[in-house]
Amino acid sequence: MKIAIRYFTKSKKGNTEKLATAISKELNTPALTVENALTEKVDRLFLVNAMYAANIDNEVKDFLIKNKEMIGEVVNLNTSATGRSTWGNIKKVTDAQGIKLSEKEFHCAASWIFINKGLPSEEDFKRACAFVRELA
Ligand SMILES: Cc1cc2nc3c(=O)[nH]c(=O)nc-3n(C[C@H](O)[C@H](O)[C@H](O)COP(=O)(O)O)c2cc1C
Repeated sequence: MKIAIRYFTKSKKGNTEKLATAISKELNTPALTVENALTEKVDRLFLVNAMYAANIDNEVKDFLIKNKEMIGEVVNLNTSATGRSTWGNIKKVTDAQGIKLSEKEFHCAASWIFINKGLPSEEDFKRACAFVRELA
């Protein structure tokens, strides 16, 4: 199965980048930012992202739109401070673009300003690795 990992990280904490790096090691697959277009068709794209202002950022939306022909299925991995998942936000874009989105997703709470200090935890990274292992 061909897989790829893309991520978009915004805050200085780099929570999404950390999550993407953890699954990259687990899957032995490079984790690149969404600035990097897919160069070949993939069966599964692990899209690692976070919630900003109750939504996903345009960089993530644009990546999906530009790369839709190359994606068999998107698997969403994400963090937020409130515990609310970005799955529904991703779904709006994938539905509009005719891209399949897996019902399975990984979500965990993450640090933001002064809340959720230390999250994602080592345990969260382990759970994320176990999640992708099953799907890769
Ligand atoms: C500008 C900004 C806006 C955010 N807005 C929300 C929000 O609306 N809801 C929420 O649950 N978390 C929000 N967060 C928290 C992030 O989802 C969380 O910190 C995430 O782990 C950030 O990932 P990053 O470090 O890779 O950018 C926000 C964070 C930032 C930096």
